Amino acid sequence: MTEHRRHHDRLEELRKLNAEAEAGGGAERREREHKQGKLSARERIDLLLDEGSFEELDKFVRHHSHDFGMETQRPPGDGFITGYGRIDGRLVYVFAQDFTVFGGSLSEANASKITKIMDLAMRAGAPVIGLNDSGGARIQEGVMSLAGYADIFLRNTLASGVIPQISAIMGPCAGGAVYSPAITDFIFMTRDTSYMFVTGPDVIKTVTHEEVTKQELGGAMTHNEKSGVAHFVSRDDAECLSMIRELFGYLPSNNLDDPPHRASSDPWDRTHPALNALVPEDPQKPYDIKNVIHAIADEAEFFEVHEYFAKNIVVGFARLDGNTVGIVANQPAFLAGVLDISASVKAARFVRFCDAFNIPLITFEDVPGFLPGTQQEFGGIIRHGAKLLFAFAEATVPKITVITRKAYGGAYCVMASKHIRTDINYAWPTAEIAVMGPEGAVNIVYRREIDRAPDSDRDKIRREKIEDFRERFANPYVAAERGYIDAIIEPAQTRAKLITALRSLENKRDTNPRKKHGNIPL
Ligand code: HXC
Repeated sequence: MTEHRRHHDRLEELRKLNAEAEAGGGAERREREHKQGKLSARERIDLLLDEGSFEELDKFVRHHSHDFGMETQRPPGDGFITGYGRIDGRLVYVFAQDFTVFGGSLSEANASKITKIMDLAMRAGAPVIGLNDSGGARIQEGVMSLAGYADIFLRNTLASGVIPQISAIMGPCAGGAVYSPAITDFIFMTRDTSYMFVTGPDVIKTVTHEEVTKQELGGAMTHNEKSGVAHFVSRDDAECLSMIRELFGYLPSNNLDDPPHRASSDPWDRTHPALNALVPEDPQKPYDIKNVIHAIADEAEFFEVHEYFAKNIVVGFARLDGNTVGIVANQPAFLAGVLDISASVKAARFVRFCDAFNIPLITFEDVPGFLPGTQQEFGGIIRHGAKLLFAFAEATVPKITVITRKAYGGAYCVMASKHIRTDINYAWPTAEIAVMGPEGAVNIVYRREIDRAPDSDRDKIRREKIEDFRERFANPYVAAERGYIDAIIEPAQTRAKLITALRSLENKRDTNPRKKHGNIPL
């Protein structure tokens, strides 16, 4: 055989193996996936990454199982596609489970493909994105597969707060397998084609006699709206992948990097006169805090996180002067912006993400307090509300607060008040900073006086007292007198004020006492 011939054969062998790996579970199974509206694992990676940037690793890894006739089916790649590539030119590690190969199930071999790229991502300081679509532990491999999951969970945990981790659920994700996405920072789900649950409908029926469909139990809207497990929902795979790219643009690559700067043509000192009249005269009337967020953000762009969960608080990313900020805002348009268990947990987790990844926090505050009621108290609002307080208090990134209207009671302290190390605290002239609203305060402080008054005078006295209280306390000036508020600003100028404050905090250095870790009230 000539040398030329030998080279040719070697290349042919490589090409054949590559083609075999790329075929996955074959055209028929892929067609079945397409019919359900799902893309293949390779199509997903192509859409996620910059064109032609994907470098695959471990394409020829095969499983080593000899049980249940598995020795006769050993496809190269073993159903997971792993490697690295670029999003907007920035390095990212990726894995995608291919449902056409043994239902995307996790084996000892393909778990090690995932742990390999996670280890590389940690060394390179680059995020990991996982595209999940799997029947779970590979049944034929038993405990070896469970071990593979646990190896991944450990790495998810150790990587938390070091590199951003993003999960997309684009098919089944059940049993203990849900815990890898659950430890990552953000979960995307595709509408109609994905689901997540710890135990499925059949087991539930046997144990609790409840009848529930997969979608009701663990579909995208269930987790976006009810459980809060997922942060984003997309129409389909393509939209999901494009949303991940968008989110990626706001995030740094690791905890030692700053988020990427994106040049903006939006003037830093742009005023927004409509904000001066946004807060209604009547303190009981709602308004939409998202109007404020859009008004101050570069190009009015806001990438909302957890849009459908605990709508009484709004969290998400925006840019100011080209730099990423994390926004936390009470939403007076939903349940009057009250803090309840879900809102506290939602915001606390977001604050901790931003703090871990050097993203300054901007807080907009209009909160009547914590939600009263047995349901909340029995559910542990004390513990959950404490999470938010803890998260804001331990955060050392630049923190700026703007009180737009109500800042009552404990919620005043919790929502990034001066006292828990917020750098700059602004208030609009419409701010009301007090232990409670004027009505509640008067009913307690003047109850005897009002009760003693003749029936005919009671309402009048109450009204006068409320008015008096409102004038004396329901304003920002008492707090400003003490320096708890640094400046009372014209709402129209909020963007310029925020950007100026952020510039002053560019080199902020603050640390927490040395410790192994705090004990956040979980
Ligand atoms: C091996 C599996 C598999 C698995 C599916 N397949 N799940 N192979 N291990 N876990 C294979 C099927 O045999 C089939 O092979 C192909 O994948 C597609 O599966 P279908 O059942 O035909 O698909 P569909 O009707 O869409 O149903 C999808 C499904 C179902 C709901 C996910 O496959 C299913 O219930 N799978 C088992 C789920 C499960 O119990 N997993 C283990 C749970 S424990 P062919 O050759 O016919 O195409 C677990 C915990 C992890 O995961 C613990 C971590 C700590």
